[in-house]
Amino acid sequence: MSSGVGILGLGKAVPEKVLTNQDLEAMVDTSDEWITTRTGIKQRHIADPDTAASDLGYAAAVEALANAHADAGHIDLIIAATTTPDMPFPATACLIQDRLKARHAAAFDVAAACSGFMYGVEVGKAMMAAGYQKVLVIGVDVISRLIDYKDRSTCVLFGDGAGAAVLGAVRPGYGILASEIGADGSGAMLLHVPAGGSRIPPQIQSIEAGQHYVKMCGREVYKFAVQIICESTERVLEKAGVSVDQIRWFVPHQANVRIIQAAAERLKLDADRVYVNVDRYGNTSAASVPIALAELVESRKLSEGDLILMVGFGAGLTWGSAVLRWGGFEL
Ligand code: COA
Repeated sequence: MSSGVGILGLGKAVPEKVLTNQDLEAMVDTSDEWITTRTGIKQRHIADPDTAASDLGYAAAVEALANAHADAGHIDLIIAATTTPDMPFPATACLIQDRLKARHAAAFDVAAACSGFMYGVEVGKAMMAAGYQKVLVIGVDVISRLIDYKDRSTCVLFGDGAGAAVLGAVRPGYGILASEIGADGSGAMLLHVPAGGSRIPPQIQSIEAGQHYVKMCGREVYKFAVQIICESTERVLEKAGVSVDQIRWFVPHQANVRIIQAAAERLKLDADRVYVNVDRYGNTSAASVPIALAELVESRKLSEGDLILMVGFGAGLTWGSAVLRWGGFEL
């Protein structure tokens, strides 16, 4: 039996500044009560003006490398999953590669919005099958840069952050047992930022019209999210030959606690197996799944052999999920 692809170590980084529901009450026509009951979010972290994606991504990467006992010089690929790169090019992964002095690493970004980390892990796994040995996958977004803090329907939902994972070989039977990524571009306009790219480049009119901000059809995205979490996770569970009862931790993308609860109920996953931190961070886009995983490890809630079911979903529309058996580190 050949070795598996596992997560050897994780790290996370969030900006210091916290934006609470009470702060938002002073900015838009909303209330702590509305935000809490409709989303489960109590606060989110917001980057200060001189912090960019590569800064948060770098900090998370340093922690992940330390936790994985890995040297940056031994990383042969860096994938940064982000839709808020420092700049259109070079890739944020290249900026992080330089700061890490990861001289032997190729580096590129993947843009799959809130599913970005799951896409990064899938690409990293495939690259390991092609011969790469250690892959650093970073999910990072400074999504606050794309948010209109006058639009109450979006500004209460999101926060900034980064999470990182070092992928490497683990003992057979451990690591990623099954995974998938997918997309349905027919839903592209349900969650998008109209301007700032090649269709509507930065210009005074588009900025004045607020086209550089996130536009979202909340209800449609909500329905898509609950449905795809269930469909995608059921497929990977089947592929892995694992039943839902065997899952120790369900780690879904943290967008809204109601989405998580509705999906968990359909999947018959009771609350003590569902990881939730959306109350503290809001939706951190590509960072959300790796931040949750990093916290699970930090709080010593994971034991050797535990099965983890991860799922991401977001703009695109995109999704990705994986079943991972934790441990098997000593080859
Ligand atoms: N504070 C107070 N009221 C608000 C509000 C806010 N922050 N945002 C919206 N409202 C109002 C609406 O204007 C609407 O008022 P109306 O009935 O007078 O028109 C009312 O609340 C209900 O809005 P609705 O959109 O039906 O609420 P909802 O229960 O669907 O919850 C979301 C809205 C956005 C929380 C929910 O649809 C959602 O979470 N969707 C998925 C979003 C998501 O996860 N996106 C990222 C995916 S990666």
